[in-house]
Amino acid sequence: MLESSRSGPLRGRIRVPGDKSISHRSIMLSSIAQGRSEVTGFLEGEDCLRTMECFRAMGIDIERRGEHVTVLGQGLHGLREPEDVMDAGNSGTTIRLLSGILAGQGFLSVVTGDASLRRRPMDRIADPLRRMGAAVDGRGSGNLAPLVIRGGSLQGITYDLPVPSAQVKSAVLLAGLYAEGNTTVRRDFGSRDHTENMLAALGAEVNRCQDAVSVKAEELFGGSIQVPGDISSAAFFLAAAAAVPGSEVTVQKVGLNPTRTGILDVLTQMGAAVDVDNVHTSGGEPMGDVTVKGGALQGALVSGELIPRLLDEIPVIAVLGAVAEGTTVIADAAELKVKESNRISAMVQELQKLGAKITEKTDGMEIEGPADLSGAVVSSHGDHRIAMSLAVAGLFCDQPVRIEDSRCINTSFPGFHQMLARLTENRR
Ligand code: S3P
Repeated sequence: MLESSRSGPLRGRIRVPGDKSISHRSIMLSSIAQGRSEVTGFLEGEDCLRTMECFRAMGIDIERRGEHVTVLGQGLHGLREPEDVMDAGNSGTTIRLLSGILAGQGFLSVVTGDASLRRRPMDRIADPLRRMGAAVDGRGSGNLAPLVIRGGSLQGITYDLPVPSAQVKSAVLLAGLYAEGNTTVRRDFGSRDHTENMLAALGAEVNRCQDAVSVKAEELFGGSIQVPGDISSAAFFLAAAAAVPGSEVTVQKVGLNPTRTGILDVLTQMGAAVDVDNVHTSGGEPMGDVTVKGGALQGALVSGELIPRLLDEIPVIAVLGAVAEGTTVIADAAELKVKESNRISAMVQELQKLGAKITEKTDGMEIEGPADLSGAVVSSHGDHRIAMSLAVAGLFCDQPVRIEDSRCINTSFPGFHQMLARLTENRR
């Protein structure tokens, strides 16, 4: 059980593990590219290791030495039929993006996941992949996993996203690499664009205009892929530093893709001092050093176009809402209900246990701050980001917060607890 308790200022310079979204894509795209790829900064979290195992099961030679991974890509048509069911574990990115690739393969595959993943909607990818010509089967009306996919010859489509989801967009674009004609995804209002960036870096022609992106069938070529630090992991420390006066935390070499930096905008809006330095771009992905200095925070409105740019950071923003002065409103975020847990009800339930004045809404939550928070035993709901957000909440509580079922943190951030301890101990 993870425990966290009141902290003075957080101080230090750190690097966080590699970006989860980019690490998944590095394995997937280099496996279907021609030739060798060298990936540095790969996230050794359970989710990304699942992706790696799926591609090994389809005959791809992948060697991992810590954060350095070598993939011997076999080209678009070099995957072989897996002999057994593939297991995506807790990872929505694995099952959804992988399904896009499987839709283009002339073989049968079955992909499953853990109890949480088997509850998450897969109709959002099954529908467009079927329209392209793949046979995709799942359980019940949500097309739940296990998914049974028999791929084959696909037709390009123009697909209007029903939700601004990078996983859905990516599944369709990856299937588009195997389709006849162009594949276009429209109505993408600001979801992360790592798939597009990496496809372009590996030699594909990716056409983007306003809210649409198109690809066509063409070979990719392996190369070097540098994975930046994950801003979604950095967010826990940056948010904690923002809310504790006297803190100063720098996260080095962290991803700064504008589709992911909404958290920095919100921290600034709430009153923290945020500085970005040493910015450079590799493989189409900007990265640099982010420094946050803490102070008194005010409540904020987090809604609309901001939401896709900070989707995974909303749980920790809710924690900031509980300690900031005034009202924080999070709206237009109904997608949070179908993440690793229902992140709206999970955060509302657990922050209430700590004494926060937080109300559940159909598309978000409302928080009245600041509240006097006190310790309690809370639950992660099996969701890594809930567990880490509650650990941040513990820094503001009179008594320790004990987080049950915190093992799930390993899906995205092995070593989180040690890093938090290091930053809070540096204060003296
Ligand atoms: C991800 C996209 C987002 C995000 C998830 C990772 C990705 O999900 O919440 O953690 O890597 O494409 P949705 O596409 O469901 O919004």
